[in-house]
Amino acid sequence: MAKLIDGKAISAQIRAEIKDKTEEFYSKNGFAPGLAVIIVGENPASQVYVRNKKRGCEEVGFHSEVYEMPEATTQAELNALVDKLNADEAIHGILVQLPLPKHLDETEVLLRIDPSKDVDAFHPYNVGKIMIGDYDFLPCTPAGVMALLERTGIDPAGKKCVVIGRSNIVGKPMAMLLLHANGTVTVCHSRTKDLAAVAREADILVVAIGRADFVGADMVKEGAVVIDVGMNRRADGKLTGDVDFAAVEPIASYITPVPGGVGPMTITMLLQNTLTAAEKKAVK
Ligand code: GUN
Repeated sequence: MAKLIDGKAISAQIRAEIKDKTEEFYSKNGFAPGLAVIIVGENPASQVYVRNKKRGCEEVGFHSEVYEMPEATTQAELNALVDKLNADEAIHGILVQLPLPKHLDETEVLLRIDPSKDVDAFHPYNVGKIMIGDYDFLPCTPAGVMALLERTGIDPAGKKCVVIGRSNIVGKPMAMLLLHANGTVTVCHSRTKDLAAVAREADILVVAIGRADFVGADMVKEGAVVIDVGMNRRADGKLTGDVDFAAVEPIASYITPVPGGVGPMTITMLLQNTLTAAEKKAVK
């Protein structure tokens, strides 16, 4: 029977640490770290994420600004807001909630964010920094996974790590962070031959493919650590991961639940990145 990795508890612990550091930061510098979140249109899931990000900021004592722009916002208007926030000294982190409405160019807006304020770590400058292992910001979801491993006492060094999924936001940076932590990393995707056999080799299996119950007992080695990044909505409205929890839990040594595993960590890592951005500005 696997031990549960409690993302809610670990996240609460890290947020308490960020809150303490923020108090210290404020008494030293006389201002709080500031995060601006831009949301365009009315995607209900995005609205929930943005609300939670604002709440997270309040919890740790950050200054936060939320810009809710109408669906009909033009690229020029969005670019102008990013330019204004780039120049705003009270704002240390800028996050443009994705996905954007179809008529807007995501790449253009992400490139426009000042890399020193890019707390999502989506700007190609920061993506490149991650590749060479010299980074200020880590993308929130992979950083959350690394923090879960670290705080559970699981060291990837020398271990076989298998990442299922190769997205720019999770799979690719996840592989890179496990590599920096001295894991031996394999990335699986839709064209991988005999994916189950590759996954079964893993000491640490990270699943970020976006398909409910994709990983069953046949894909997991006895005693493996299983990290489920999936967030899928079942027909009955219930949230479920990419791992068939009931089937895999008896085999794994550690497993993250969904919800309550990786999910709570992502906003915590965003807060960490915002604090880092503010600290970098403060020492200048
Ligand atoms: N939409 C879903 N996840 C994310 C994220 O981590 N950052 C941004 N900007 N948008 C998202």
